[in-house]
Order: sequence, then C-alpha cells, then structure tokens
Amino acid sequence: MRVMLIGDVVGRPGRRVILHFLERIRREQRLDLVIANGENSAEGSGITPQIFFDLVGAGVDCVTLGDHIYRRKEIYTVLEEDARVVKPANLPPAAPGRPWTVVKAANGVQVGVVSLLGRVFMRPADCPFTAADRVLAEIPSEVKVRVVDFHAEATSDKQLMGRYLDGRVTAVLGTHTHVPTADEQILPGGTAFQCDVGMTGPHHSILGRRIDRVWETTLTFRPTEFEVAKGDVRLNGSIVTLDPTTGKATSIERFVFREP
Ligand SMILES: [Fe+2]
Ligand SMILES: [Fe+2]
Repeated sequence: MRVMLIGDVVGRPGRRVILHFLERIRREQRLDLVIANGENSAEGSGITPQIFFDLVGAGVDCVTLGDHIYRRKEIYTVLEEDARVVKPANLPPAAPGRPWTVVKAANGVQVGVVSLLGRVFMRPADCPFTAADRVLAEIPSEVKVRVVDFHAEATSDKQLMGRYLDGRVTAVLGTHTHVPTADEQILPGGTAFQCDVGMTGPHHSILGRRIDRVWETTLTFRPTEFEVAKGDVRLNGSIVTLDPTTGKATSIERFVFREP
C-alpha cells in the first residue's frame, strides 16, 4: 500500500499543479491515499472552503494545515464539520477543528491522520509530544496505518518526534520549511521519517513568495505584500510504502513533479 504526503501547497500555482496533475500522479505512482498540507493554499496563507473542496475534488483524501490554519475564518465550519481535515493536535481544545481523523484509502484501508506543530521559532503551542500520546491513544486500535504531519521549523525537533513515535506510527513526515530534506529513512521500529517533504508551488521564489518583495522588506524594513511567486512550479512530496496489516513502513521515497 502506498501513501503520499504532499508538502505545503502555496497559492494558485500550487493548487494548479494539483488540479491538473494529481490524478495522473495517483495513477502512475499507484497511490492508495494522498494527504496534502494546505496551510498556504489561499494566496500563500490559510485555506478557504472553496479551495479545500477543490483539493479534495482533485484527489486529495485528507488535508493537514499548520501555523496559518486560521488565517481565513471562513474555514472554521469546514474544520468543525468535515472529517477530511485536521487541526494540529497540540492547539488548545477550544481551537476550531478535530485533533485527529480517520480516512479511507482507495484500497479500503482506514488511515489515521494527525498533525502536530513544533515549538522552536514558532508561536508557542502545547507540548506536541504529549499531544501525540493523547491522540494516538484516542484513535481506534484497529486503525493500524497512522500518518503524522509534523509541522515544525527545527530539524532537531523533527528528529526527536520521529524517534519518539518510532514503532507507534507508520510515518512521521515534516512540513512547514518548504524545503525538502534528503534524510528520508525507515527508523528501526518501522516508522518512515523525513524532516521535510518540501513545498508544492513556485520554486523561483523565497519559500513560494516573490523574491523582489521579500528583498524590499528585508533590506528597507518597509512592509510589502509577500505575493505568491510564479515560476518553476513543482509538486513536492514523499511516498511511503507500507504493510497495511501491521501499519509498518517498508520504504520511503522523495517525489517531485515539475509542471510542464
Ligand atoms: Fe507553509
Ligand atoms: Fe507553516
């Protein structure tokens, strides 16, 4: 069984590559389930209901988010009502959304999906490690396949989470930095791990934003609108192959698709 996590979808270019090519990628890569991090899908920040339903309609089975989750308040209702999206589990209980979900893959296997936020160089949240313990205990025990999107800045934090959850989940895959790391591996307990799967959007950019705009603010301290860039659009993600009867991962591969 094969599951892909697509890295942070940035703005219209990121959505476009998914809307036009995900169906083909799903077929060619024989994917049973696709999870996408959509926290930057609405003009680079947040997600709207329309965009959520567009992504789901294009073949995304579950959407994870991150520090930009609540930028568009229109999404609150979807977060409360739709089982195909999760909030980071270490946000406070009163924050809109569900802390874990279970979605059905194309082969019929139930997959638990969890999102967690890091705390290094990010707005403080509750402890992601205890939050992970809590939600993993809540997910029904018959759900063996469990994927964690760890949305965090520091590679050390991400390695700690990978080791902490090794043997307890199918995969701990990072998002948020928008830069893929070359450390994909299967940990000793059978958990697939990678610090960051990268970004889906324009790579002629600074993390998806127009280079000139970021330069202007950096050099002059004048605030500018960090508009989403346009060039060199790529879909970045990682594909985990796993045994659905045990939930253990057997391989992980980085995946990149360049928009023609
Ligand atoms: Fe992001
Ligand atoms: Fe983020």
